Amino acid sequence: MTETSTARTLADQGVAAPAAVAPLFANVRSRFDNEISAVHDESAWKNFRDAWLGRKSGVLAQITDNWLKPAARELKPAVGAGLNELRAHVEAQIEARRASIESGAEASALARERIDLSLPGVVRPVGSHHLIRQVFQQIEDIFFSIGFSIVEGPEIETPYYNFEALNIPEFHPVRDDMDTFYIDLPKGAPTPLLLRTHTSPMQIRTMEKRQPPVRVIVPGKVYRRDNPDATHSFIFHQVEGLAVDTDITFCDFTGTIEYFVQQFFGAGVKTRFRPSYFPFTEPSVEFDVSCIFCGGSGTAASGGTCSKCKGAGWIELFGAGMVDPAVYGFVNYDPKKVSGFAFGMGIDRLAMLKYGIDDIQVFFQNDIRFLKQFP
Ligand code: FA5
Repeated sequence: MTETSTARTLADQGVAAPAAVAPLFANVRSRFDNEISAVHDESAWKNFRDAWLGRKSGVLAQITDNWLKPAARELKPAVGAGLNELRAHVEAQIEARRASIESGAEASALARERIDLSLPGVVRPVGSHHLIRQVFQQIEDIFFSIGFSIVEGPEIETPYYNFEALNIPEFHPVRDDMDTFYIDLPKGAPTPLLLRTHTSPMQIRTMEKRQPPVRVIVPGKVYRRDNPDATHSFIFHQVEGLAVDTDITFCDFTGTIEYFVQQFFGAGVKTRFRPSYFPFTEPSVEFDVSCIFCGGSGTAASGGTCSKCKGAGWIELFGAGMVDPAVYGFVNYDPKKVSGFAFGMGIDRLAMLKYGIDDIQVFFQNDIRFLKQFP
């Protein structure tokens, strides 16, 4: 059978009898049915629709122009009926295909974009405070509870505040113990600047600004040119304490310190004061606690000498003392009317003791395995 052509008239195709018309339409319809089954997306559908229903050259327009219009009178009814039937079929099928493509696209878009609320979320681990910060907070809470407040000061200091006003003149031998980092400044700068070696400069800055009674603690970073080892770092942390009033005695001092230690380490530890020397306190003491690793016996659980206290049974915690009257002269306090005490704790060493950490360097290495142990 020759291909049914919609581009040629029926006469050209040798169709003369009405009975021959129906098979022609049947051919066109089956071509249509074949082609539509391959249409699956919107753009293919549009092309297909235009190919069949296009006003000028669509297949139905061709049938109208080439079959119906020039048809012999006796053929016209059959061609008209066949064309109507074909048009109804074509239009209905094209519309049905549009609907199914649209709903299919919608369904697949829905499936793609659906938010599954039952899926577990992305877990973002929450960080925690560094152990040093946690210890700062514990210390701050203890001193808050007995009426101290916090002040903070600059890490870059002048020699005046770091040394001179603390009764440490130039060439005083104590400066050797606190060698530090000086800032490179342009020639003619009004004063040298250095990284503070202790938090004690804030004693001076606080007393310059406030009249007694003064009760402050000063947490912060300090710097020294110490060679790093298990208990020394060139950057470490201190909490300074200062209490000045008209009637503060050595008993207030020891009572405050012992209260702090009991709160911080627990009731089991013993404490002791040893005479010491600081140019800005008089008398000066070093404060020791009984070794928490060996219970103060000096002997390790394994039987040998306790490596933490080197067998002494005591561990040095910090320096302290009654404020030297000479210091009051730098801040215009009357040494005959006021008295007070001061202390300076090494926070890294306190943390090491409390948590059994045997190397100060781990505080600065940011090893997540260490940090995670103190959530
Ligand atoms: C001072 O810094 C005095 N300003 C303390 C003071 C304040 C005395 C007020 C009197 C009145 P010292 O140099 O001893 O003192 O240091 C205090 C503490 O800091 C030490 O007990 C120790 O715990 C800690 N420390 C000192 N050097 C280092 C270091 N390189 N690394 C870690 N901790 C250190």
